[in-house]
This record gives sequence, C-alpha cells and structure tokens, in this order.
Amino acid sequence: MGEIVEPYRIKVVEPIPVTTRAQREQALRRVHHNLFGLRADEVTIDLLTDSGTGALSAAQWAAGMAGDAYAGSRSFYHFRGVVRDLTSYPCVLPVHQGRAAERILFSALLTPGRITLSNTHFDTTRANIELTGCQAVDLPCPQARDLDSDEPFKGNIDLHRLEDALRGPDASRIALVILTLTNNGEAGQPVSMDNLARAAAPCREHAVPLFLDAARFAENAWLVTQHEAAYRDMSPRQVAEQAFRLADGCLMSAKKDGIVHIGGFLGLRDRSLAERCELLLIATEGFPTYGGLAGRDMDMDAHGLTEVTEPDYLRARADAARHLAGLAREAGIAIVEPPGLHALYLNAGRLLPHIPAHRFPGHALACRLYLEGGIRSVELGSLYLGSEDENGAPVTAAPYELVRLALPRRTYGLGHLNHVGEILAATVKDKERIPGYRLVERPPLLRHFRCKLEPI
Ligand code: F0G
Repeated sequence: MGEIVEPYRIKVVEPIPVTTRAQREQALRRVHHNLFGLRADEVTIDLLTDSGTGALSAAQWAAGMAGDAYAGSRSFYHFRGVVRDLTSYPCVLPVHQGRAAERILFSALLTPGRITLSNTHFDTTRANIELTGCQAVDLPCPQARDLDSDEPFKGNIDLHRLEDALRGPDASRIALVILTLTNNGEAGQPVSMDNLARAAAPCREHAVPLFLDAARFAENAWLVTQHEAAYRDMSPRQVAEQAFRLADGCLMSAKKDGIVHIGGFLGLRDRSLAERCELLLIATEGFPTYGGLAGRDMDMDAHGLTEVTEPDYLRARADAARHLAGLAREAGIAIVEPPGLHALYLNAGRLLPHIPAHRFPGHALACRLYLEGGIRSVELGSLYLGSEDENGAPVTAAPYELVRLALPRRTYGLGHLNHVGEILAATVKDKERIPGYRLVERPPLLRHFRCKLEPI
C-alpha cells in the first residue's frame, strides 16, 4: 500500500465529536435507527456524503472575500469565464445545487411521455425526470453487474442498447441522453472517453441531445488518465475539456468537483434552450447572474473547478480510497471493485448472509459501524430500492445490498481512515450477531430518509 502524501497542510481545524458507545446507543434509539436523523455532533467520522462536505482552500476563501452580489456581479463574469474555458459551453446558468439544474433543464426540455436514457440516472435526476411525466431508463454496461471484477470502466453506458433504443420503435420519444461521470448509481465507477465518444456519435446522428451529469468530472478524468491507454499522457484537465466538448451541455453539482459547500450550474450550447431555461431560473432560483448563489459562492466555485483537476490532489484522493479499500479487504469485507475516488461501496449482502434482503443487511451494517465507532455511512440496498406490501411482506429487493462510505474532499486524513479500518475489522469479528431491521414507519416517497426501524 503506497504512502498518502496530501498536497496541502492544515490551516484551520474543526474539532470532531468523540462519543461513548452508550451515547451512540441512545442516539440510535432516539432516531429510530435511521442514521439520517443523527445530529452532526453525534458523529465522529461522517462518511454520509462527499457533497458539500469538502474543505475549501485558502485561495477559495480569499476569492470568496472578493465576491460581490446581484445583477451583473463581477463574480458571475469571473465564474462564467472559468466554466466556459473548462466546458466550451457558451451559456452558463448558475444554480444553487445540482438538482435545481436538473429541474430547470427537464422542465424546459421534456414533455410528458418522453424517455431519457442514461448509464445510470442519479436518484434526484430520475425524480426530476419523473416529475415531468417522463420515463428515465438506465442502460448500464453488462460489466457493471460483476461487483468483483476489476474492469476499469464499469460506469459505461451499454452502447448496443443505446443504439437499439435510438433506432427502435420508441426512438421518437427519446428526448435526451445523460451520461453520469462518474456513475454514482453504479458504485462511482468511471466512464471511458471511448464510451463517451461512441455514445455521442449515434446521439448526433439521431439529433438527440447528449448531456453530462458532470458532478465528478475531474475524478472521472483522473481514472481515464490512469486506465485508458490513449489518454495516459494527458492531464486530467485536458481529458475533462475533451469530455465536455463531446456533449451538448452539462448539469453540474459543484458541491462535489467544484469543492464548494453550495453551488452548481447548467452549461448549454443551444442558445434558444438556454433562453427558456433562463426564464425558469429567474422564476425559481434568481437572476441569471447569480441563480440563487452569493457572489462569493461563484468565486469559490470558480477556484474549486480549477483546483480539482490538479494531478497531485487527484492522486492523493485516489490513494486514500485505495488505502481504505485495502483496509476493508484486510478486514474481510468485499467492496465493489475497483474502488473509485468518491466512495467505497461495501458488499453488506455478502458479509451478512444471515440477514435477508427485507431485513436490510446494508442498513444493519451501517448501524453497526455507527455503534462501533461513530462512523456514519449510507445504505444502498433494499431499504433504498426495495418495496413491501401493506403487511410488510417483501415485494421487490435491490440487486445488491451495499453500504457507501463516501469520502469528503480534503477533509479526513490517514488517521481517520485507519480508525475506519479498525472499526471495519472490529465489526467483522462478531458479524453473526449483527441483527436485521424491521420497518415500523415508512413515508410513501424516498422512504429511506425518514423511515423508522427497529432491530429484530
Ligand atoms: N448528480 C449526481 C451524480 C449526484 O451524485 C448528485 C448528488 C446530484 C446529481 C444532485 O446534486 O445534491 O447538488 O442537488 N449526490 C449527493 C450524494 C447527494 O450524496 O451522492 P445536488
């Protein structure tokens, strides 16, 4: 395992809470065994998300101080210039976060009954598409189904199914194709440039717009430089620029690879589409030169978008993920291979075969990691994707029972990761005694956020 040399040092520190097991047991009971209900000061290592949880650089804070606000702000023109350079999209609409870009684009572009295709739609992307009365169809590549193989580009779209769909009987209903880089819904696996170019060609031929969900564009570009021969001598920045140029626009949650706490944008080539989006932006987010953000947010984002493709930063991030992956394997926990950059996905279904899908092995493991070491993670299994009938009998289960350990950017160091490794090892020691869970209350929509559970 290689050394991790973070290319930055600490300038500001934030104490993290250290709790006792008794306090964690009490907290878990109070929130009805739903980790989303915990207060941040009850969590020692928070691996719930890599979104909006990164540490800003000194340069970002300084840029924020120079920010100004409202119509025609200097910050906006600076931000737009940086985004145009990176993406080549002439129209740049700032928004407060990724899902606002989704809502605006889909409201402007979709009419009920249309279809969208993707390698995998992220859950808010799917929700915003379905809210317009359209159908979101995932076409992940077949390699994605093998969680253990170390194929480097399991985030790809299935090109055969894409071409079949674009030529098939429903072709006229296909409104757009979205490639999610990296593919968060498929364990953060990357998309190759070859796949992106081969997806772009038939989209162009059939006049179907291709958009990138670019939340983790820099991490995708890093993995391309590492694993795709034709791009080995390019910088991540050059790869990212090429990727954006292959598409007609992008949706961006800057809370990931903008390394900011809030922000995002919609990048578009089509000016008439941009004008329609602008009307919705003004009605729901803010004037097109701030889109629900303060000037300082746009300045910090502009800096973050530049810092995020620095090779040393990306290398250290990949090393950290690889280090944690090694600790998980050493502990005897299978992960979705190969590890990406933004998160590690633990195979809870395999670790806890005594817990059936409708007793939520992923949730059981996540709760145990919290109890054991104050680590917060998130289940991605049948609690998130499955369903039951009104008597609680299982109807559908998720294809895999996973737990995501997301890695906030520049936030946790080697000591924290080693603590997580120790907790993984301790958890495995008495894994047979980890109980399953029963749902006692479930809201009708996005139930995993607010449901109540109890161990059985
Ligand atoms: N697209 C992808 C691929 C995402 O991962 C997210 C958010 C969004 C869009 C929506 O962006 O949160 O700024 O509105 N993912 C977070 C996560 C929530 O934890 O993976 P947002």
